[in-house]
This record gives sequence, C-alpha cells and structure tokens, in this order.
Amino acid sequence: MQGKQILVGVTGGIACYKVCDLVSKLRQKGADVHVVMTAAAQELVTPHTFKSLSGNPVSTELFYDPKSVPHINLADKADLVVIAPATANIIAKMAHGIADDLLSTLVLACKCPIIIAPAMNVNMYSNPIVQENLEKLKIAGVKTIGPNSGNLACGTSGKGRMAEPLEIFHFVEEVLHNKKDLEGRKILISAGGTREPIDPVRYIGNRSSGKMGYALANAASKRGAQVTLVTTIIRDVEPGINVIEVETAQEMHDEILSQSCDSDMIIMAAAVADFKPKNVKNEKIKKLEKEGLIIELERTPDILKSLGKNKRKDQILIGFAAETQNLAENALEKLKKKNLDMIVANDVTCEGAGFGSDTNIVTIYDKRGNQKEFPLLSKFEISNKILDYALQMCSG
Ligand code: CTP
Repeated sequence: MQGKQILVGVTGGIACYKVCDLVSKLRQKGADVHVVMTAAAQELVTPHTFKSLSGNPVSTELFYDPKSVPHINLADKADLVVIAPATANIIAKMAHGIADDLLSTLVLACKCPIIIAPAMNVNMYSNPIVQENLEKLKIAGVKTIGPNSGNLACGTSGKGRMAEPLEIFHFVEEVLHNKKDLEGRKILISAGGTREPIDPVRYIGNRSSGKMGYALANAASKRGAQVTLVTTIIRDVEPGINVIEVETAQEMHDEILSQSCDSDMIIMAAAVADFKPKNVKNEKIKKLEKEGLIIELERTPDILKSLGKNKRKDQILIGFAAETQNLAENALEKLKKKNLDMIVANDVTCEGAGFGSDTNIVTIYDKRGNQKEFPLLSKFEISNKILDYALQMCSG
C-alpha cells in the first residue's frame, strides 16, 4: 500500500460511518488516501472526520476552486478508487454515465481499477433495475465486494449490508497487488470441527468455526491456486473452489486421503475429533430414570499422521496446533511425529486468538528448525503469511 493513492468515494448510506475504519486502515498501511463525499454522505458523517482520518482535505464540490479541475486531478492521480458504501443511486449513475456531482464525474474520468461496496435495503438490492445496473458495471470491469446478508439499518434483514471494512481493505490489497504466485498449484485444505454422532440427535463436536480454513482457501484461490476444501461447515467461498462437505473424522479422512496424491500442498486447518462414540445408537438415548450416562469412546484416524506417512518428496504438508499450554514444545512434537514441513501454532487462550475469532496470533515452526512469530492479524492476512512461508519452503 505504501505510496499508493487511494480515492475513497463515500455516498449516503448509513454504513458510511464504517468507512471511517476503512480509511484509517488504508492510511495506517501507508496509502495516501483522498476522500470524496457526496452531499448525502455529508448528512451522515462530517468531512472533518474523514479529513482527520485520511490526513488529506476532503473533496465535496465540483466547482469549488476556479483554478483547478478537481475531478480530473483526483482521477488522474488515483491508483484505485473504492466507493463505500455504494448506494443504488451511485450504482445507477455509474451504469448510465451520469455525471452530476464530483464523485460521479470523477469515476467517469478514472482509468484505474474501481471497487464498489454496495449497501442498501434488501428489496432495493434485489430490484431487477439495480441488478441490471450492477451487471452493466461488472461488464465494464468495475469490481464489486458484498453486499453481505444480515440485519439492515431499515429494520429488515437480508442481503444488503455493506461488506465489513476489513473485507473491503483486503479486497483493495488484492486488487492493487493481484499476485497470482500460486497459479498451477493444487492445494487441499480442511476446515471446521468434525462431529461424531452419539445418536440421531446428538454429537460430540468442538468450537472450531472453520474461519481459518476458509480464509486459507480464499487466499490461495485468489493467488491462483486450484483449491479443494474439505469442510464440516459451509461459508461463502471464492468462485472456483471445490468444496466437499463432510461430517465425521472418518469421512474427512477418506476424502482427504483420496484427494491427497494429486495435491502439491495440504493444509490441515480442521479441528478433528480424536475420539468418537464406539457404538452409535440408532434411536435417541432417553434419560428415563438414569442418574448418569457413560459413553465409551474409541480413537478416530489421525489424518495428518497418515498424510505424513505417505508424503511425496515434493509435497508440502502443513498442520495446525491449537494449544492452551507449552505451545512450542507441543507444536514441535506434532511437527516431528506427523512428518510435517510446517506447523502453525496458536495459543487459544490469548485474546484475539480463540475459536470463532476473525483474528489470530500464530507462530510458524518448520522442519528445518526455523520459527517465525506473527502479531495479531486477521485470519486472511495470516493465511497469506502461511502461503508465503510455504512458497519459500517449496523454493528451498
Ligand atoms: N489432526 C488430524 N487428525 C486427527 C487429529 C488432528 O489430522 N485425528 C490434525 C489437525 O487438523 C491439526 C493437527 O493434526 O492440523 C494437530 O491437531 P491437534 O488437535 O492440535 O493435535 P492432536 O494431534 O490431535 O493431539 P492433541 O489433541 O493430543 O493435542
């Protein structure tokens, strides 16, 4: 981001307060951020807020300075334009080439990549006219992030929520860099926690959210890899990822092993159960007059250990170690015992590194005896660090 000129167009959606965070993040990463606000956006957040956060004057008027042509100056200098939130109005104006204020005029004059983050009421978003406008913009090369589903400011819920500032930030990074250094590589990734049935209604599970595995799959796919994701949890993924849904450790084992020979890199991010009920009941267990219940457990297969045993020389095998104590010692033991190239260890008791979080704090240990600690980062950023590290291991 260092030295990149990023133009952030803010339009009048209530989500514009979240864009303060985006502007701050972009500036912290070294970008030179210029904010352009529409009149409606200024009703919601003042230009002073964005001025303080970006460190640059905020542009609002097409004709404020007779000596300069602001829309051309801003458009010429920008490496990237991101419009967040993008209302149905700006989307319609862009789709039809309408230039009636500073933002709509300057996007017409821009040659750099343009990202929009739509945000609006669910019915507005699904309106065929809005969809047609979005399609037109897509054909014209405008990139879209979101909207997400969830509660909307208008009191309804559904698709229409602006993508989160962190997601937009990563998308900006990706569009700016657009590195495809994993092109031609096949990567197999596991995600989520396995579920071991006790009876038709109950199972033994764990707290894994699958976010780390999904972040890895999305990051690898964005960098050009051909990704297969074996997962117990369904989340949004990049188009093109082959998603295989499983439930138990045995099912995950069978899928992963059948896909493994063909893979250049395997990353086991899933939290696999080590034990499962020995006898799964066909009928729901009734409590009746019982004072307690003993369920006999037996071992599940260790998928990573099997992969380590059959590993090809040119294959990179990566494990995870989620620990609550003796992080380095436990991680290094797993690295060795399972014949891994790398292990990504995290202490789940640290704030920001627990299950379900969007962030993590990890240390990577490799089979050559090296280790690298990373600070608190988003799971997407960590995924890219893991992939960078793995690529370095590949190149010796
Ligand atoms: N793993 C696996 N199959 C299992 C258990 C774990 O493939 N049956 C993988 C996990 O996906 C992870 C790594 O092994 O990449 C370490 O998992 P973890 O649960 O931390 O360690 P375990 O080997 O299960 O040992 P323990 O639970 O005793 O810490």
